Amino acid sequence: MKKILAVALTLALTLTAFAACAESKETLTMATNASFPPYEYVEGDQVVGIDPEIAAAVCEKMGYDLEIVDTEFDSLISGVASGKYDFVMAGMTVTEERQQMINFSDSYATGIQSVIVKEDSDITSVDDLFAEGANHTVGVQLSTTGDIYTTGDIEEAGLGTVQRFPNGNEAVMALVNGKIDCVVIDNEPAKAYVAANPGLKVLDSSYAVEDYAAAIAKDNTELLEKFNAALAELKADGTIDAIIAKYISAE
Ligand code: ARG
Repeated sequence: MKKILAVALTLALTLTAFAACAESKETLTMATNASFPPYEYVEGDQVVGIDPEIAAAVCEKMGYDLEIVDTEFDSLISGVASGKYDFVMAGMTVTEERQQMINFSDSYATGIQSVIVKEDSDITSVDDLFAEGANHTVGVQLSTTGDIYTTGDIEEAGLGTVQRFPNGNEAVMALVNGKIDCVVIDNEPAKAYVAANPGLKVLDSSYAVEDYAAAIAKDNTELLEKFNAALAELKADGTIDAIIAKYISAE
């Protein structure tokens, strides 16, 4: 009898330990701005795309659950810097200015800044935007690298005006409605927006080439190291390439 009790007790303790273990799997919160297909977009009530899939794979490798918060792009860096979110993945370009506020993980993808115009636009190459006497109204998503570049190269150079929208979709709608002359945005979202809106095209010439990485708070070097280690494994075993290939067909 004593023995049965002891076994039962051991079993109960083991089960409790297992339950505690399962419960104690911590959740990491990733913030993004989900109007950026194919990197992140909303499908039903889910945020899906390349970044959520890579984030899920990285978190699984690190032993965390993943929760995704969809918010304004403009608030992502300050949110992760203040500890509101554990990390950001948002097709976010590595820039020195952002590196003053957060750490970037190793890069997991390349991005290109492209220009969307109407099919019959007189803008036929990126250089037309910087030509002497140019005076275009350029749409961008607020606080993106498209905003940063065009503010310097076009607005401050006296070659036109920059209109800043809360997301890429609203910038593209303004182009469709003839309120602006072009949109400067990353190439893959540009292609997705053009596919969804007849009468638009992406210029062949590109504005800038960039690296995408996850952003993590400067004081959270532990997560940064774990993240990079997991990412390296997922690059080595082909997982990252497979996720990207699922959404972007090789040209
Ligand atoms: N790559 C650009 C940047 O880092 C645009 C990113 C926009 N991302 C988004 N999820 N809306 O500034």
